[in-house]
Amino acid sequence: MLILGIETSCDETAAALVEDGTILSNVIASQIDLHARFGGVVPEVASRKHVEAIGYVIKEAFDSARRTPSEIDGIAVTSRYGLIGSLIVGVSAAKSLAYALKVPLVGTHHIEGHIFAPILSHPEMPMPHVCLTVSGGHTMLVYVKGLCQYEVMGNTLDDAAGEAFDKIAKFLNIGFPGGPAIDRLSLQGSRTAFDLPRPLVRSRSFDFSFSGLKTSVVNMFRGKERNAIPLPDVAASFQEAIADVLVSKTVHAAEHKGVAAISVTGGVSSNRRLREAFLETCGRLGLEVFFPHPDLRTDNAAMVAAAGAARLDHGEVAGLDLNAVPSAPLESAR
Ligand code: KG4
Ligand code: ZN
Repeated sequence: MLILGIETSCDETAAALVEDGTILSNVIASQIDLHARFGGVVPEVASRKHVEAIGYVIKEAFDSARRTPSEIDGIAVTSRYGLIGSLIVGVSAAKSLAYALKVPLVGTHHIEGHIFAPILSHPEMPMPHVCLTVSGGHTMLVYVKGLCQYEVMGNTLDDAAGEAFDKIAKFLNIGFPGGPAIDRLSLQGSRTAFDLPRPLVRSRSFDFSFSGLKTSVVNMFRGKERNAIPLPDVAASFQEAIADVLVSKTVHAAEHKGVAAISVTGGVSSNRRLREAFLETCGRLGLEVFFPHPDLRTDNAAMVAAAGAARLDHGEVAGLDLNAVPSAPLESAR
C-alpha cells in the first residue's frame, strides 16, 4: 500500500511517501529560521508559510520517490493536535488531493505520528510497549497495546520538556530552538555543577511538571551579567534534571505495565544525554529501548503515513468533512 503522508501541525511543512513500511521520500521544509528571530513559533507566520510551501513539498515527495500521484492508495494527514491555522493547510491539501485522485483519506493525531516514528524505524519493535513522546508541544507517556491501541498514562501538567528547553535557552540567550543549543553547550559542562529539582520524580503518578525546574534556573541567574553565568554547566545540569525525570518516570511506567520494551520519540529524543541515560538505565534493568531514526525524531510526514496506513488497515476512512482539531485526545482506532 503506497501512502502519501502530510504534516503541517506546527512549523514544518512535510510530505512523504511510504510503501508497506518502506520510506520512499521524506521531505521537510522547516520554518525554524523564520521563527528564530521571535524566539518561538508565531502561529500566523507559520500558517502563511505552510500555504506557500505545501504544493512544492508534496510535489518534491513524489519527484524524489520517482512516483506519480496516480500510483497512491491513500492519503494520511495530521488533522488533530497542533496550531489550528497550520493544521488547516495540511487538511485542505489532503482533502483536495483525495477528491481529485479518488483515494481514501484518513486523519491522524500528531502524537500518534510520533508514536509510529520508532515503529517505522524498527518494525521488530514488540507490542505492547510504553512510549515516551516528548517534544515542544507535549510530554506524554502512552501504553501502546497494539497498532493504534492506546492508553495515555501521563501528561505534562504545565510546560512540555521541549518547551522548557526552549524557554531556558531563550532566558540564557543561546538560540532557538533551545533543545539543540543546550545539547551542544552541555558537552563542555558538568552535569553535577548545579543541584536542580527533579519535579514529581517521587510521585506515584505518571504526570510531569517542568515549569518549577525552569523557574529555579531563572531565579538562580536572574539579573546576573551573561558572562558571569557558567553557560555550559547550567546547560548540562538543566538537561540532566530533565533526563533524570523522563527516564525514571518512563521506566516506572514500563514496570507498572509489565512490558519489556519502551520507545522514546519526538523532538527531544534527539537529545544525546537523554538517549545515553535511557540506554544506561534500560541496559541495567534488561529493558529494550527504541528510538526513531534521526530523520524521524522531529516532525515529519513519514510517521504520519505509517500511522495512516495502520488506521486504513483498521478500516477507518475520513469523509471530505474531515476537520482540523487543535486539541483532541489521543484515540485508539475502533
Ligand atoms: O517534535 P518536534 O519537532 O515538534 C513538536 O511537536 O513540538 O519537537 C521540537 C522540540 C523543540 O522544543 C526542540 O527544542 C526540541 O524538540 N529538541 C531538542 C533537541 N532537538 C530538538 N530538545 C533537546 N535536545 C535536542 N537535541
Ligand atoms: Zn511533534
